[in-house]
Amino acid sequence: MSKTYTITAALPYTNGPIHIGHLSGVYIPSDIYARFLRIMGNDVLYICGSDEHGVPITIKAKKENTTPQKIVDRYHKNIKESFEKFGISFDNYSRTSEKIHHKTASDFFLKLFNDGFFEEIISEQYYDENENQFLPDRFIIGTCPKCGHTEAYGDQCEKCGSTLNPKDLINPRSSISGNIPSLKSTKHWYLKLPEFEDFLKNWILKSKKETWRANVYGQCKSWLDEGLKSRAVTRDLDWGVPVPIENSAGKVLYVWFDAPIGYISSTKEWAVKNNKSWEKYWMNDETELVHFIGKDNIVFHCIIFPSMLKAHGKFILPKSVPANEFLNLEGSKISTSKNWAVWLPEYLNDFPDKQDVLRYVLTVNAPENKDNDFTWKDFQLRNNSELVAILGNFINRVVILTKKYYDSTIPKPSKLNPNDNSILNEIDNRTKKIENLIKNFKFREACNEFMNIARLGNKYLADEEPWKIINTNPDRVRTIIFISIQISSILSIISEPFIPLTSKKIKDMLNYKAHKNSWTWDNISKKDFLISENIKLNEPILLFSKIEDYEIQKQIDKLNNN
Ligand code: 2FM
Ligand code: ZN
Repeated sequence: MSKTYTITAALPYTNGPIHIGHLSGVYIPSDIYARFLRIMGNDVLYICGSDEHGVPITIKAKKENTTPQKIVDRYHKNIKESFEKFGISFDNYSRTSEKIHHKTASDFFLKLFNDGFFEEIISEQYYDENENQFLPDRFIIGTCPKCGHTEAYGDQCEKCGSTLNPKDLINPRSSISGNIPSLKSTKHWYLKLPEFEDFLKNWILKSKKETWRANVYGQCKSWLDEGLKSRAVTRDLDWGVPVPIENSAGKVLYVWFDAPIGYISSTKEWAVKNNKSWEKYWMNDETELVHFIGKDNIVFHCIIFPSMLKAHGKFILPKSVPANEFLNLEGSKISTSKNWAVWLPEYLNDFPDKQDVLRYVLTVNAPENKDNDFTWKDFQLRNNSELVAILGNFINRVVILTKKYYDSTIPKPSKLNPNDNSILNEIDNRTKKIENLIKNFKFREACNEFMNIARLGNKYLADEEPWKIINTNPDRVRTIIFISIQISSILSIISEPFIPLTSKKIKDMLNYKAHKNSWTWDNISKKDFLISENIKLNEPILLFSKIEDYEIQKQIDKLNNN
């Protein structure tokens, strides 16, 4: 039965391009899920946008002697283009510097303010006298009290992952001037999180243990077991959504307060453009809300944002929050500052027609339950021995044989034999398995199963050897080729969530629009075939090409010469 889904992908910070860690952690899994649900006939709204506030953007602007607006304009364009080129099928990609977002976030804050969900607290905070500014979050650096890392930030230690407050740091210094900061009083608004503890315990601890990933549930449990404290949702900064109450000049909403509201504003922007209702996707109990995030975002999406939604009163809560672990690169943590990353614009320069190769490799190697490693050697191997040798080879052989024997016209099959029926049944079972795996966010296994179907296709051709009997048993060969084209049509549908550009190429080659039945996922399992005899296939094209050793060496050298 068709359902409504709101699928969100974490809004990327707009202070640099996107790298493979982002793609594998958030955007590929969410795209697979959104595409799959759409093919199954659901009403899907898949949204994202640029997260354009926050301290790192301000710091980058200061370093480059420019404005935060210029920084976000540059990277918004860059990031949006990468998503488009990799086939990430957002229904809307917005930005948090848009008016609609500022209004939505301000109204949200005001509603919570008026309903008494904030505490006003005056406290002493670090201040840089030289720069005349407060030093929230990443504006302050010091030694982590938990692990001794000397470059920990005021909000987090990137070495041990601990969440910190600026006052936790040992030997704090300003990240702008390097100066020892002074302390100065300032007023901020704190979300009264302890008021939501019971609600969160009931909602998460009582009902999500079985359905949420262990890492997500585990992090939530440890936050809740420790007890929640009120959290400041405003900052002394001049870049962000201004605090919408009197006498609050120089104060903005904390980026983590406004960013998740960005999902709602992106939906509103989409609704205006398409003359649709946004409320259907956020205020209807029948709608399933799913947040795709990286593991460093769990507390914000499972504890803080749900508390904000609950406090507001009318919003639905996420049904699931499938957070991925991290992807490492050649055995080390991906690091922007050390330039230890594969940046998407650079990848596209070097491999302009290999978007699906990266999508595939990042899916079969996704860090779903533990951190995982991307290596260029594995990338090459997966391309050459799976995409080229299994999937590409199978489809190519089928289309070439059809051309050779029947001038590319789909032959009429004779009676199916037990081997034909058995492979069709087997594929049917695997298709159902893939459906279940995707529904349960197990994209890695689902993608492997998809490749297994192509393996089965190759095995079928190898067992049947139509080339050996084309002269002695032409009837049988017609059936073998017909079944092989049917398997190819199934592969073209199942491949769509994983490798959408290739899926389209296979469909085009098989002339999918000309067949009697429509090529939907639902129709795969129907008794009737997807393909119709007598339809002429299009000219064969190569789906994948071999990646040579020198191409891989070039990438490894590029990393090592950083
Ligand atoms: O970690 C990040 O990249 C954040 N910009 C994610 C924000 S997700 C949401 F809240 F917008
Ligand atoms: Zn630490």
